[in-house]
Amino acid sequence: MSDQAETRRFRDAIGHFATGVCVVTAFSENGPTGMTANAITSLSLDPLLMIVCFDRNARTRVAAEATGRVAVNVLAADQKALSHVFASKASEEEKFAGVDWSERAGVPVLEGSLAWFTGSLEDLRPGGDHEIGIVAVEEFGASGGEPLIYHRGAYSRLLGERP
Ligand SMILES: Cc1cc2nc3c(=O)[nH]c(=O)nc-3n(C[C@H](O)[C@H](O)[C@H](O)COP(=O)(O)O)c2cc1C
Repeated sequence: MSDQAETRRFRDAIGHFATGVCVVTAFSENGPTGMTANAITSLSLDPLLMIVCFDRNARTRVAAEATGRVAVNVLAADQKALSHVFASKASEEEKFAGVDWSERAGVPVLEGSLAWFTGSLEDLRPGGDHEIGIVAVEEFGASGGEPLIYHRGAYSRLLGERP
């Protein structure tokens, strides 16, 4: 099997692992910048740590590494369009056009997210074509609501209501 076919097969298989969708933000020298990400998880409770996996080519990684600060914004079900634009290579200006955000703890936080976390990028470790970012969480908050879901390469919604 070719490398490409094996990559496809891996993506298809790992796509069965349903995730939420986040936008990871940071400040670049041109202002706020950000990327859609789902390779994110909590790592530690004491101290509070999260993992954010950055594609080596992600411009957001460069900004996060330069400033040492990031925010993780958990998207709501109605923020699919936001996820789409932040997954593109549009300019920072285009990505943030019409997006409500505010600066919290030195990073841009998106309005309307279900939850947000700010923190310092403590470490970036090699992980193949990605880098594993370890974030020491500082401030965070959550408003609740229906999350945006990513499953098998497509956006989806939760079935059923929470009691
Ligand atoms: C659902 C979804 C999840 C993604 N997850 C990640 C991720 O965890 N890490 C990452 O580096 N890129 C991820 N991407 C791809 C980035 O969003 C994409 O490469 C983006 O163009 C990076 O923008 P930037 O170069 O402005 O930082 C994801 C894309 C989608 C659609």
